Amino acid sequence: MEDQHHHSVSPHDMEELWEQDLLQRYPTEGTKARSEYRNYDSPARDTVRAFYQQNHTHQTYDFVLQKEAEFLGFNRREMSLWDAVDYLNTLVDDSDPDIDLDQTQHLLQTAEAIRADGHPDWFILTGFLHDLGKVLCLFGEPQWAVVGDTFPVGCAYSDKIVYPEFFRANPDFSDERYNTTYGIYEPNCGLRNVHLSWGHDEYLYHIMKNYLPEPALYMIRYHSFYAQHREEAYDHLLDAHDREHFKWVRAFNPYDLYSKSPSPPDVNALRPYYEDLAAKFLPDTLRF
Ligand SMILES: [Fe+2]
Ligand SMILES: [Fe+2]
Repeated sequence: MEDQHHHSVSPHDMEELWEQDLLQRYPTEGTKARSEYRNYDSPARDTVRAFYQQNHTHQTYDFVLQKEAEFLGFNRREMSLWDAVDYLNTLVDDSDPDIDLDQTQHLLQTAEAIRADGHPDWFILTGFLHDLGKVLCLFGEPQWAVVGDTFPVGCAYSDKIVYPEFFRANPDFSDERYNTTYGIYEPNCGLRNVHLSWGHDEYLYHIMKNYLPEPALYMIRYHSFYAQHREEAYDHLLDAHDREHFKWVRAFNPYDLYSKSPSPPDVNALRPYYEDLAAKFLPDTLRF
């Protein structure tokens, strides 16, 4: 029943619901999830619960390794940055055009808010491209393998992750190789040695890793890792380099989560600025 409900929601609507849900969990900057989060019911909340039931059941260590092998060869499409933005925008569900902002508008609003605060150009560009990994939806991937909070696999799932009870259905939950505090990892081994659940963050990180500075790569790779950047649930896996760079992940998060404004940005007017920015950092085409 929940499953059917989940599949009736378009990828675009699911992302909107996920973002609305994040705003209910984290209504202000820098705080932990509000404790009354789980206490109210709504159809939107049911959809998000069903989404996490799928996500937490299926994001196993083996699943993540399989997706890494499947997608990190980048043999699907070659696109310029703006081609990729246009392509991502085909996710839009036009059934609700007055409420939904399309993907381009989310990217532009995030980037323009960063720009308005006077941050460096690589930070602005990162805001503009941070969700491009969602093109995975257009390659036929299920939503639970593209969006949603991310978390380490190969070690115990933290109860600080949203809806932790759904991990009980995950085969790794009762696999003793993977269900201890450290699992297959060493204490403070550094996140570069840790596999996170598969989704748009990890995918885009690998596309961008040769082109952007390290703080930008942290923002891209860990922006959905709320269990760490808001809840500090995995301090025991971080090394000193991670701890230093998570300041940037936390600096980025408010722009992603709280930059929505009802007046959509003027895409055509802004396009030349962002094309110049892309030309400064990125090759003419990127491989997806
Ligand atoms: Fe994202
Ligand atoms: Fe985003």
